[in-house]
Amino acid sequence: MTESRRPKDSESYIGNHKLDPSTQMMGYGFDPALSEGSLKPPIFLTSTFVFERAADGKRFFEGITGRRPDDAGRAQGLVYSRFNGPNQEILEDRLALWEDADQALTFSSGMTAITTLMLTFVRPGDVIVHSGPLYAATETIINKILGQFGIKYVDFPAGATREEIDAAIDKAKSMGRVSLIYLESPANPTNALVDVEAVRDARAAAFDADKLPPIAIDNTFLGPLWAKPLAQGADISVYSLTKYAGGHSDLVAGGLVGSKALLSQIRMIRNTMGGICDPYTSWQLMRSLETLELRMTRAGENAEKVCAFLRDHPKVESVGYLGFLEEGSRQADIFNRHCSGAGSTFSLYLKGGEREAFAFLDNLKIAKLAVSLGGTETLASAPAAMTHLSVPDERKAALGITDNLVRISIGVEKAEDLIADFDNALNAV
Ligand SMILES: Cc1ncc(COP(=O)(O)O)c(C=O)c1O
Repeated sequence: MTESRRPKDSESYIGNHKLDPSTQMMGYGFDPALSEGSLKPPIFLTSTFVFERAADGKRFFEGITGRRPDDAGRAQGLVYSRFNGPNQEILEDRLALWEDADQALTFSSGMTAITTLMLTFVRPGDVIVHSGPLYAATETIINKILGQFGIKYVDFPAGATREEIDAAIDKAKSMGRVSLIYLESPANPTNALVDVEAVRDARAAAFDADKLPPIAIDNTFLGPLWAKPLAQGADISVYSLTKYAGGHSDLVAGGLVGSKALLSQIRMIRNTMGGICDPYTSWQLMRSLETLELRMTRAGENAEKVCAFLRDHPKVESVGYLGFLEEGSRQADIFNRHCSGAGSTFSLYLKGGEREAFAFLDNLKIAKLAVSLGGTETLASAPAAMTHLSVPDERKAALGITDNLVRISIGVEKAEDLIADFDNALNAV
């Protein structure tokens, strides 16, 4: 970027005191002097950017096309809105702060982020090792779309032990080059946690240090507040920013957070193919990130109170909530090592079947009957009849997706009002 357009560096420290991301969300990466003194970043609705000199244009394109290997794909200035833009760059800088990462990339949806990540690293004949279950569309990309290009996969259950992970990697190695290890934790919809440290160690044991396949992990359900998997050895954190990060159920976006070396490769594909988050959605996300900690904290506290109430209700069979893991169990051990909060998305199993689940859903007054999660409002749905309707019965049974299951994502309402709503709906069952 030319000197006249380079934003003033944002402070991350005051003396030796390191600022928390929640504080930095208000201003990091934005220099009001470049935008008429505007306190907030304007939305930059432009398809292209004017270069000050021809030599700048050349230099920026050297970045975009990867001619400068130190930071391939990243231009030193603004070029064209398929590659970059002020709103996206500020958003990406802020997103990276939550996991102390080098960089972040944003996309038009979580699935665009996931697909671009996979296109970057896998080639025909390669094998993806992944935890299971994964979000249904991610499974579709792996087995239906990439499968058409000769890419294979080996999966292991989300709660797998080191030995089970070793076995999955061994099997994958016998089938071809393992080019990606892809995890989702907690898994959607089982909430099962993956032992990222065990995956990291299994990878180190199975591959030469200079040939490690990247470990990417979908951190949508607990991140970026309650889980920071880069600290446990993952290389890339994957986000549907549609969920907690966006947080108001009014946008669709995705993000990848991780090391410069890996994200540069993904950026090159995004530069070529598109799929970057648009300026308006980026602006919305910056606004959302200002309250991320407040919203997630409140939702987490609400979920704790609501789950405590639901657990003892006579119409309830059980509650699959990360706050209720049995002490001493393997899942509790992973939780204690990897997570700082139990989240606000959980499974409610009612006594009965579809009739009872539907009666409960139809009698909710505050909670809305909708799929998705992580918004300010509480949502509830019946996965067996909705998001997972097309999943074969046998697989549904294996994943615990039964007709009496209601998935709930708790929002930021008053906990007592949500409890009254759930009590009323349960009594109507
Ligand atoms: C865990 C998880 N990953 C990825 C996605 C896909 O994100 P998007 O809908 O933003 O494409 C979802 C969407 O529900 C999800 O729940």
